[in-house]
Amino acid sequence: SDPGLVERARAAKAALGDQVFVLGHHYQRDEVIEFADVTGDSFKLAKDAAARPEAPYIVFCGVHFMAESADILTSDEQTVILPDLAAGCSMADMAAIRQVEDAWDDLVEAGVADRTIPVTYMNSSAAIKAFTGRHGGTICTSSNARTALTWALDQAGTGGKVLFLPDQHLGRNTYVRDLGGSLDGCVVFDPHKPMGGLTRQQLEDATMILWRGHCSVHGRFSLAAVEQARREIPGVKVIVHPECQHEVVEAADEVGSTEKIIKTIAAAPPGTKWVVGTELNLVRRLAAQFPEQQIAFLEKNVCYCSTMNRIDLPHLVWALESLVAGRVVNPIHVDADVAHHARVALDQMLALPG
Ligand code: 13P
Ligand code: SF4
Repeated sequence: SDPGLVERARAAKAALGDQVFVLGHHYQRDEVIEFADVTGDSFKLAKDAAARPEAPYIVFCGVHFMAESADILTSDEQTVILPDLAAGCSMADMAAIRQVEDAWDDLVEAGVADRTIPVTYMNSSAAIKAFTGRHGGTICTSSNARTALTWALDQAGTGGKVLFLPDQHLGRNTYVRDLGGSLDGCVVFDPHKPMGGLTRQQLEDATMILWRGHCSVHGRFSLAAVEQARREIPGVKVIVHPECQHEVVEAADEVGSTEKIIKTIAAAPPGTKWVVGTELNLVRRLAAQFPEQQIAFLEKNVCYCSTMNRIDLPHLVWALESLVAGRVVNPIHVDADVAHHARVALDQMLALPG
């Protein structure tokens, strides 16, 4: 990266000292990760943001929903900054609050809403987190989805259901792979169709009502790529993120959040061969960090998460230098009522065991 910009980022961070705390998601570019005070998966970053009450400014190098969650979990005196407001998440955009409220009305109409608990993936807007809080549900991330789902099914009681938003793959993978549930217990609710494209009977029979959303990056990893890696690299271990399609997750050796992927690889003996199915910035960094292992990307035609990549060094420098000059750019402020209810659902997640 541009040495002039690196120098400017260093100088701005030094000038700001404890005034600023920089969080970096594992999918961020190397040039940005270099300036992060902490790195993590979405669960760790949410906790890390809340654990810094003394920093007036939190610069969030990640995507919009993560910055919103940090704003909700930090005090009113703190300001969360997203260096590029266009850093969204295509999955989070697949569930608009209007659609989710309409879907809930459908569940009421079908007579199943009173036995349904929403479990909402962190990758969602604050408005949908608030919906979840209003309906007695919880947020989850890829690192605690199993615990969250176990809790929710317990809350829902016999014959109860979970409305899982917005990632159908994480919902299905967690239910089937982690909890031993059956694929037959899952239905997909399509927000573009009346009643989600489902019959009353299908809703009645289902345990998991999965929102029709997915990650446009992870959704592209294929079973064929796993099979090809197994043919070409004898003894290879396949590790993937749970946002991958069910057949990919079923064929993998290990499945986990970004933090778990890093820890699993870090703990493996030298000479271990991996193919990794997650975002490319992270896979490249892992390959550089652990040269004594053989680390490859699962699928050649999958690329970076384009929205994560929007946060680059020029944007970070702009956000930091603006703070030095006394200007706050790109603050993320969640509406107080939305934040209140979203916090209920986030606190429920933070209260889950483990
Ligand atoms: P993690 O919580 O595993 O970091 O995942 C976040 C994400 O956006 C994955 O696509
Ligand atoms: Fe969203 Fe997928 Fe990018 Fe993660 S990798 S931020 S889920 S689009």
